[in-house]
Amino acid sequence: EKGGYENFMLKEIHEQPKAITDTFRGRLLAEENMIKMSSIEDNLDRFLNANRIIIVACGTSWHAGLVAEYLFEDLARIPVEVEYASEFRYRNPIITDKDVVIAISQSGETADTLAAIKLAKSKGAFVYGVCNVVGSSIARETDSGAYTHAGPEIGVASTKAFTTQITVLTLIALKLGKANKSLSDEVFKNYLDKMQMIPKQVEQLLKIDEHVKSIAAVYKDSKNCLYLGRGFNFPVALEGALKLKEISYIHAEGYPAAEMKHGPIALIDENMPIFVIATNKGHYEKVVSNIQEIKARAGKIIAVVTEGDTQVRDIADHVIEIPDTEEALTPLLTTIPFQLLSYHIAVMLGRNVDQPRNLAKSVTVE
Ligand code: M6R
Repeated sequence: EKGGYENFMLKEIHEQPKAITDTFRGRLLAEENMIKMSSIEDNLDRFLNANRIIIVACGTSWHAGLVAEYLFEDLARIPVEVEYASEFRYRNPIITDKDVVIAISQSGETADTLAAIKLAKSKGAFVYGVCNVVGSSIARETDSGAYTHAGPEIGVASTKAFTTQITVLTLIALKLGKANKSLSDEVFKNYLDKMQMIPKQVEQLLKIDEHVKSIAAVYKDSKNCLYLGRGFNFPVALEGALKLKEISYIHAEGYPAAEMKHGPIALIDENMPIFVIATNKGHYEKVVSNIQEIKARAGKIIAVVTEGDTQVRDIADHVIEIPDTEEALTPLLTTIPFQLLSYHIAVMLGRNVDQPRNLAKSVTVE
């Protein structure tokens, strides 16, 4: 059942090209220049007339929600707030029938997310679910929704669920952006073409596994790690840190790169590895200067860059290249090396990667 892989996590990491393709199926119709999602079409007015979209989720799904905030605002110009379901539900939040709430959950059983949905519904909001498990409680409780078609995710550390959540949310953002004319036909078409290339690009990235493993070997005994990104890749930094924490038990933090100088930079010395996402389109020059600040303090830099990059390569201790794509789509690629890196570090430390200590796959209690 592990399909020849040592554990479910590795299998699920490698299943991502297929999982993303399955999530596209019947929806991403590049030749017809359209995205077909009846759950959006049937509720188009609710989305387009929404005061704002509120996204509720926990853990990795919350990180997918943060990526969606950048996607919806950039591609569809709809204001978005992203909330931890556990905070939202107890905050006496202001919700009206003009709000659209999107709940994201792999399992569809997370207690806090379910409770947040019930609260939003009771205030008259339209609630849309993005779930992986078909027929799950959240899928049933929401007014409408779209499934990610990741297939069963057994490893406690979420991998393919995350990338397929981002896939669905990108499709929705593009569809809404086209519908409200935030995106021209030409720009929309270009996104569809670039989206279609993602599964192949993920496949290509999975081939650099040995290179990532060699980096893992260098940093596996670190006590602390930092992950930095900006824009669309800020949530990827958070997710990279979470993945390392949960399966290797190494302390890690994710930050927006520019926040460094507001505190975390004090932590940097020669024992601190810093994983930085520095793709060529997303605030590249600014990230480069963040990297220089870190190097000046003897921190070790492992940079995720776009293929062919030379500027960061010159100053970083290690680089990991991702294929070129639109900035908005980079999270689907930059996530992959961080999954592999956490995986290898955890294995080298002898951890149980599929069932890390103290964690459950579905958190059905608050
Ligand atoms: O099933 P859900 O997506 O609602 O789960 C939310 C979190 O419990 C989950 O993402 C958790 O953070 C994972 N262990 C992350 O790998």
